[in-house]
Amino acid sequence: MSKVKTIRDVNLKGKRAFVRVDFNVPVDPDGKITDDTRIQGALPTIRHLVEQGAKVVLASHLGRPKATKNLEFTLKPVAEALAKLLGQPVQFLPDCIGAEVEAAVAAMAPGSVVLLENVRFYAGEEKNDPEFAKALAKLADVFVNDAFGTAHRAHASTAGIADFVPVSVAGFLIEKELEYLGDKTANPEKPFTVILGGAKVSDKITVIDTLLEKCDTMLIGGAMAYTFSLAKGSKIGSSLSEPDKVETARSALAKAEKLGVKLVLPIDHLASDKIDFAGKALGATKVFEGDLEDGWSGVDIGPKSVELYSKIVRESKTVLWNGPMGIFEIKDASKGTFAVAKAIADSDAISIIGGGDSVKAVKKSGYSDKVSFMSTGGGASLEFLEGKVLPGVDVLDKEGGCCCCCG
Ligand code: 3PG
Repeated sequence: MSKVKTIRDVNLKGKRAFVRVDFNVPVDPDGKITDDTRIQGALPTIRHLVEQGAKVVLASHLGRPKATKNLEFTLKPVAEALAKLLGQPVQFLPDCIGAEVEAAVAAMAPGSVVLLENVRFYAGEEKNDPEFAKALAKLADVFVNDAFGTAHRAHASTAGIADFVPVSVAGFLIEKELEYLGDKTANPEKPFTVILGGAKVSDKITVIDTLLEKCDTMLIGGAMAYTFSLAKGSKIGSSLSEPDKVETARSALAKAEKLGVKLVLPIDHLASDKIDFAGKALGATKVFEGDLEDGWSGVDIGPKSVELYSKIVRESKTVLWNGPMGIFEIKDASKGTFAVAKAIADSDAISIIGGGDSVKAVKKSGYSDKVSFMSTGGGASLEFLEGKVLPGVDVLDKEGGCCCCCG
């Protein structure tokens, strides 16, 4: 795919820049934002637009309000948090389309910022209805997509709007996501190690298939490893697995062998006879090398696997990590996941954390500032790593293409 144009390529002075951001952040019942990573991620783009004298119109979704104006999902608290982070006022508009919104945007001074209300209050958003996209486009001279976390959705504010705006470009966050999840894994510095974890082979099979073609070593952890163990004929006790995906795991093992990629499974396991997810506690624990006994469930990779995986990570030049090694939310089952985070932090490798739970784990481990890049996407990162074209990226203008409004 050719490179997309970015906000660096367009003249923004005095223009209304409609910026789709992903401000889908966790908000507690008191309206407090409990993790502002995604707001922080959009700041470089917003600051650049402000400095360039654009009129910055921000749009996002929050949660899944199911096309109703349910104020439980209002973006108002986000406007307040953003104003503090940005150090300038952010006007919150209680709607995202219509005459009043258009009038408020028309009255904006260059360099000012507004945040529209949740675009998912309208059914047209998720249906990618052209009429709704047109209504949003009335607020835009330039469409800027910086919502990487939502770029896998073909919605009106992420994709459809581009049909009705003359210029569509990426913001700095999308540019960075594409650089790390795309370029740096397509042409990685070698050795390139991929670490995949999580519960299900079925969630990760496409990404396993795609990344086996790019990496030198693939380390498997999480409950997913037990489906691979079954494929190798090992006993997994009472561990979580997907017996109907054993054949899929077998094909991945065969593909790795054919390509000369080392697909590494845990050599030992921490197991427990009881897992209390709600109470975040385990019963008795025991380390198994090889087969697990009935009544015991694997909850983390074992100490020898930790050593092996850490050594491989330290010897790598590029590391991509997606999915925890165990039930890291439970302290006694978190060692493997945090050890991987530490090995990544200790290594000189370009390290890319592919979104979702692995980002949570890195943050919890305290090594966030030691990794090269943490994706803000969950589903979007996975789909992108699978090699899928993301609709929110696909609609953007490409380098080398004509753009009458760039000057
Ligand atoms: C996310 O949190 O993954 C994105 O904001 C997309 O949200 P969605 O899964 O509700 O479309």
